[in-house]
Amino acid sequence: MNKKRTVLDIRGMKQAGEKISVLTCYDYPTARILDDCGIDVLLVGDSVGVVFSGYDNTLPVTMDEMVYHTRAVARARTRALLVADLPFLSYQTDLRDARMNAGRLVKDGGAEAVKLEGGANVADCIRAVVDMDIPVMAHIGLTPQSVHRMGGYKVQGKGEEAGDRLFADALAIQEAGAFAVVMEGIPLGLAARITAELEIPTIGIGAGPGCDGQVLVIHDILGLCEKYSPKFVKRYADVKSIISEAAGRYSAEVKAGGFPTDEHSFH
Ligand code: KIV
Repeated sequence: MNKKRTVLDIRGMKQAGEKISVLTCYDYPTARILDDCGIDVLLVGDSVGVVFSGYDNTLPVTMDEMVYHTRAVARARTRALLVADLPFLSYQTDLRDARMNAGRLVKDGGAEAVKLEGGANVADCIRAVVDMDIPVMAHIGLTPQSVHRMGGYKVQGKGEEAGDRLFADALAIQEAGAFAVVMEGIPLGLAARITAELEIPTIGIGAGPGCDGQVLVIHDILGLCEKYSPKFVKRYADVKSIISEAAGRYSAEVKAGGFPTDEHSFH
């Protein structure tokens, strides 16, 4: 439970039939809590742009923002594997950009692996980053950086042809050297078939129970972000109500003169 998780452990968990728990994380105090409670992988996702910064989608997120959040999480994490997202335009342009930006997330951010979106189309990119000894987690299916091509956040891989394409993508990224793959928004049967075929672990989000692990966005499980509420989200707490109640009580006490009192003052 307390053993430091490495990419080798994450791969080994699939062989041992042990499920892998992954949560997004963007800041120091949350990272301390998640690291302590047994989460295997902390993902500094580019979802930070939506749930933390308030952008409409992940496309505006910059490398500097990713490095900043990754560094904050890295300072807290002692046990979980730390994976950071390569944001839009940081790896699609050419392989040198991919290598340089993956390197920045490791060198400046403290990440132990990077994640990037795409299938066979990014196989070269995965190979280039893996060749410089940076482990890569791939991400196929509903890839949020492709929101405009997909025409919205829609389930991918439906029907035989699309399913076969996604299967080929999964094999291509494994062949390119990815150590794990996130599968987002795909039919559960397809996800289970890919999981059975691949040697590397599959981490599902909206991909059913047949994956080797599961990832969700921390704000979603805590009830902190009401912008989108996809079907695959399960809320485990209503932290928004807790914050709202505490802040409301504080405000009321300040206005009524109930806080601060002598107890909170210096003499
Ligand atoms: O950006 C992100 O948080 C992600 C996960 C939801 C898989 O890519």
